[in-house]
Amino acid sequence: MHSPDPLRHGGNRWQVAAALGCRPEALLDASASLVPFGPPASVRRALHRALRGPALRAYPDRGHTALRAALAAHHGLPPEMLLPGNGAAELFTWAARDAAAAGLNLLPQPGFADYDRALACWGAAPCRWNAMPGAALPPERLSDGAAPPDGAATVLWICNPHNPTGALWRREALLPLLERHALVVCDEAFLPLVPGGEAHSLVPLVPGHENLVVIRSLTKLLAVPGLRLGYAVASPARLQRWAGWRDPWPVNGLAAAVAQPALADGRWLRRVQAWVAREGPWLQRQLAALPDLEPLPTSANFLLLRGAQSLEPLRGRLEREHRVLLRSCRSFTGLGPSWLRLSLQDRAGNRRLLRALRQATASTRSASRSARR
Ligand SMILES: Cc1ncc(COP(=O)(O)O)c(C=O)c1O
Repeated sequence: MHSPDPLRHGGNRWQVAAALGCRPEALLDASASLVPFGPPASVRRALHRALRGPALRAYPDRGHTALRAALAAHHGLPPEMLLPGNGAAELFTWAARDAAAAGLNLLPQPGFADYDRALACWGAAPCRWNAMPGAALPPERLSDGAAPPDGAATVLWICNPHNPTGALWRREALLPLLERHALVVCDEAFLPLVPGGEAHSLVPLVPGHENLVVIRSLTKLLAVPGLRLGYAVASPARLQRWAGWRDPWPVNGLAAAVAQPALADGRWLRRVQAWVAREGPWLQRQLAALPDLEPLPTSANFLLLRGAQSLEPLRGRLEREHRVLLRSCRSFTGLGPSWLRLSLQDRAGNRRLLRALRQATASTRSASRSARR
């Protein structure tokens, strides 16, 4: 049976629960970066309404007319510049098809593994640019130390805020990249969660830049990974081409039905950003007080923890003994086992996370002391 590598993504609640012999709900999943108190009531209500109407029984509108209109109104762009998808992940596949044809692909390292998957679909072998914590844009060096290729057509993939570091690139830093690269693919999956983040979105630049693709996700913001909804913002000609390549009904009727009420739910957006502004710095301070762990600064709803040695024993202990899941960083090239990523929880969840970390670091330290004796 095909079984995807569990290390490449967080959120493996079902597999871990089966391995531990517990209910999936018993786990605190800080390995996937979703809003922990979602989905919003507006989405639940829209789903109930949709279940009573044709959304379930009829084939979805292949032109996504209402959904595109809602997304267009949200961003103040013409509907032809928006293409809804089955999460952001599906749209990376089509962006990658264009990217493979446009030139040499430069992927961030460390970065989200799905860009690799999407490029591999089209046989493209990427280079990496250095996106380690503290790195600046434009990339001055590739991750192997070489200078970025001069004169060759290049495709730059960026993620803003960056997964896994949580770094937020400022729009001024991104603007010159549009002049340098044949294509820029900007993943803004987490941007709506970042307080003040929209000021750095590249979406308003799409009308003036044929070579820009922005991909957004509503999955994180609304906490609906089981429903899945994302969209691409790009030139109408590009999106029309993609629409001709994909399967006929990539966005299901229920996902389409929740988008409009969710986008109109300004209270939800404010609540989510207020949570990140409140809990982020609080958790950062608490983590900084723990021995042997260094939390890195972040703008997003997730952060990296660095250890002096491998944090994998700690991660295993958290999982087995505390039912708390953190994201292993072994699949992020450039990071490896001395790093973990964790996502912000509500206050009760953050306290549970900290309690578990305190106990597990103490047990891990005493186990390694006994092993040395
Ligand atoms: C940076 C980044 N972009 C996109 C996605 C995928 O978004 P979606 O669930 O909407 O496909 C993820 C999922 O973890 C992600 O981390």
